[in-house]
Amino acid sequence: MSGDRLSIGSVDVEPALVLAPMSGVTDQAFRRLVRECSGDAVGLVVSEFISIEGLTRNDIKTHRMLRYDAGEHPISIQIFGSDIDRMAEAAALVQATGVDIVDINCGCPAPKVVRKGGGAELLRRITHLERILRQVRRELSIPLTLKIRTGWDEESINCVEVAQMAESVGVELVAVHGRTRMQLYHGASDWDRIGEVKRAVSIPVLGSGDVVSVATARERLERSGADGLLIGRGAMANPWIFRQIVASRRGLEVPAPTVTERLAALRRYRDLLDEIYPTKVTAARLRGMTCRTVKGFPGSAHLREAVTRTRSADELIAVLDEFESRPQAPARASGAAA
Ligand SMILES: Cc1cc2nc3c(=O)[nH]c(=O)nc-3n(C[C@H](O)[C@H](O)[C@H](O)COP(=O)(O)O)c2cc1C
Repeated sequence: MSGDRLSIGSVDVEPALVLAPMSGVTDQAFRRLVRECSGDAVGLVVSEFISIEGLTRNDIKTHRMLRYDAGEHPISIQIFGSDIDRMAEAAALVQATGVDIVDINCGCPAPKVVRKGGGAELLRRITHLERILRQVRRELSIPLTLKIRTGWDEESINCVEVAQMAESVGVELVAVHGRTRMQLYHGASDWDRIGEVKRAVSIPVLGSGDVVSVATARERLERSGADGLLIGRGAMANPWIFRQIVASRRGLEVPAPTVTERLAALRRYRDLLDEIYPTKVTAARLRGMTCRTVKGFPGSAHLREAVTRTRSADELIAVLDEFESRPQAPARASGAAA
């Protein structure tokens, strides 16, 4: 059955459920949190995108983004940029860290990235992209994958063409986010187009976009025939989602995590953030995650407001403690976890 397992070159991914790359989110701390919540139901994790300029110019902060720990295998590191030689040099640096896969970002819509020729802009420069892929492929002995959108805009949908080109130069997997660059995150991800890519190439294809529950995971896989799923925002709101999907495939029902479990996960996330960041960064990332996590809680508007006002992780944890100690604190959150 699609979604059970897949091979990316020599790397086995089982199940074929992948934590999607998310800038500002899928750092080492968040990836570890997801692995702790979902265990071996996460087949592969992907880093945030990392700048090839920062890597090849030896920027310390950028190099810190390469950190991962032994329990994270298999892990893929995603890079972005546009210069051919620097892309190859950066890919070699990434490979030297011992990761399993190098992924190239071809979907980021951010103006500061596309203006410099990277991210989704590469979808408009296929010949240049082909040169990049050829050179990077030559540099690497580990698998190379590509993450794309369906095209730049509705008038220039070219995901099938890009995927076929990628396959022809030795890319071992293509992940498709079913939106165009111009759509940003609006509208729905188009899983029929993801299905077209799947049918057009022999390498495995991952689909991405709007998988937020057991039901959407099943429906998107069936509709597209994709080999597996990338899960992004669904994992931010619910880091147990991988475990829930796998359990449901085995005919088991996994209840949505309790509020207590969710709050415990946030406290654990704080500890994981503290291991790698200065306190200010920890506070900012924890605030973002908390606001998303408590969305489904009854009375969440007040809680979120209080969380937004906190200036440190200690203050934020105190707000959560206070919330949990209230007699009316609900047993289970509704919504996101379903
Ligand atoms: C906050 C955020 C950051 C993202 N950063 C990246 C990134 O660094 N590289 C990338 O290829 N895609 C990135 N994406 C896109 C996701 O990987 C994914 O394709 C998209 O969010 C659709 O999937 P979802 O509905 O499961 O979130 C990002 C998405 C979000 C929401």
